Amino acid sequence: KRHLISATDLTRDDAVLILDTAEEMARVADRPIKKLPTLRGRTVVNLFFEDSTRTRISFEAAAKRLSADVINFSAKGSSVSKGESLKDTALTLEAMGADAVVIRHHASGAPYRLANSGWIDGAVVNAGDGTHEHPTQALLDAFTMRRRLIGRDTGLGEDLAGRRITIVGDVLHSRVARSNVHLLNTLGAHVTLVAPPTLVPIGVEQWPCEVSYDLDAVLPKSDAVMMLRVQRERMNAAFFPTEREYSRRYGLNGDRMARMPEHAIVMHPGPMNRGMEITAEVADSDRCTAVEQVANGVSTRMAVLYLLLGGSEPAVTTTRTEEN
Ligand code: CP
Repeated sequence: KRHLISATDLTRDDAVLILDTAEEMARVADRPIKKLPTLRGRTVVNLFFEDSTRTRISFEAAAKRLSADVINFSAKGSSVSKGESLKDTALTLEAMGADAVVIRHHASGAPYRLANSGWIDGAVVNAGDGTHEHPTQALLDAFTMRRRLIGRDTGLGEDLAGRRITIVGDVLHSRVARSNVHLLNTLGAHVTLVAPPTLVPIGVEQWPCEVSYDLDAVLPKSDAVMMLRVQRERMNAAFFPTEREYSRRYGLNGDRMARMPEHAIVMHPGPMNRGMEITAEVADSDRCTAVEQVANGVSTRMAVLYLLLGGSEPAVTTTRTEEN
């Protein structure tokens, strides 16, 4: 059975196949009829134990565009708030015939547990677990980089070899950073992390990337700069610099953005703390891809669901009606 739990599950060829399939899916979004019949009769469950805007909505949109039935489960308002366990919740979903379960959970490792428990038969997709991983975010980020830095058509079949990607901010609490470091390394990119010393994870020397504490020195050598949200809700206040000090040293403002090469893009997975890690001027500039990343998330998640659930049939079949 196939699952997507970690960016490290993917080889270079797996990742390029997902990005190429996502390009096919994006072409569907450009058509008058935005739906494919590919997953008709299949059921996708969105199982969210933690808040989400982008990931939950884009998985729902992705599943619906592939004609799957979608069940949205939010821990708030469910029997989880009465103490029901992950196991009993999973068994309930299994009884409802879930073909895929997209899970977000505050505990690192929850998707792995679900995939290897035998509680459910369907494919498991990690939509963010604690501070561990968020592999579909890394895929949509790579998709966005490939489009912007190589090109929509010219990028097909290509990886990100030789591209220089800088990831800035609260790396310690960021599942987005961890998944990106692994996926970008698999795709041949060179990754530099920039963070305050207190927000660099223990063991980062084992990660396939460099670490710097000097943002201004790294910016001119970057093709893409990914700003991370400062996750105060996961933080001990004693370890955190003041907001002013943080944005002075690690925030991206207009002056700093001007140090980047002209072709370089600014990325943010959202939600953004405007005025903290990124100024409104940068967030709203043409160089910032945050909104584009959300749109690309739908195509990328369509590709993941299609490859996990329907991969033996052609993704996109053109009917005579659509050609006309
Ligand atoms: N980037 C991201 O995971 O956003 P949400 O928390 O809104 O899903």
